[in-house]
Amino acid sequence: MAQKDIGNKTPLQTLSSTYQVRQYYDEWAENEKYDRDMVDWNYTGPEEAVRTIIKYAKSKDILIFDAGCGTGLVGKELNKAQYLNIDGADLSQKSLDQITEGIYRRLCRIDLNKPIPIPDNHYDAVVSVGTFTYGHLRPQALDEFLRITKKNGLICFTINEGIFESHGFYEKIHQLALKSSWKAIELFKAEYLASKDVNAWLGLYQVV
Ligand SMILES: C[S@@+](CC[C@H](N)C(=O)[O-])C[C@H]1O[C@@H](n2cnc3c(N)ncnc32)[C@H](O)[C@@H]1O
Repeated sequence: MAQKDIGNKTPLQTLSSTYQVRQYYDEWAENEKYDRDMVDWNYTGPEEAVRTIIKYAKSKDILIFDAGCGTGLVGKELNKAQYLNIDGADLSQKSLDQITEGIYRRLCRIDLNKPIPIPDNHYDAVVSVGTFTYGHLRPQALDEFLRITKKNGLICFTINEGIFESHGFYEKIHQLALKSSWKAIELFKAEYLASKDVNAWLGLYQVV
């Protein structure tokens, strides 16, 4: 999320290490504060991402990886849409601890800016919402998403509009298309966090 979105919290742009990002979300997750803030702020990212996935992932049996699952808001939306085979990963253990049992098959605490400990061509889809923003996941994380996704599988992500061009995301997603690693199915400006005047690009790409 952009600096302007969270006036009551430390601006994301001041977070300079993975350790700080982890602490930031560990604190925010406590007593369900993150989840309550997202309701108060009318955060629509998870809903918009799942609405987009539903249009193209017709089988409900697919195996999905929720990269940067946080407290499980995307998993909840996927479950509502009858997708039940979901694994989740996040940097913040306290966020993972907030997740209601039964939403995900497996959860693990990992740094998604590093190689993901999952074999090649493992998932039918990867979804990553709210993770490509200041100080969070870098564009190179998309290479790992591609590696762990099966051919013809789907990768759905949001990228904060404030960093889309300046932090190399626009270039990265187009390079991957030029290399025929994936092809664009949808790329549009989503409402995301409209109450805080924060938009994000929402992409859905298919692995070639
Ligand atoms: C804005 S939250 C979004 C969480 C969830 N996807 C949602 O939509 O509610 C961003 C998440 O990215 C996670 N994150 C940030 N950097 C990360 C990293 N390097 N590796 C794994 N997760 C990371 C944070 O811990 C946090 O849970």
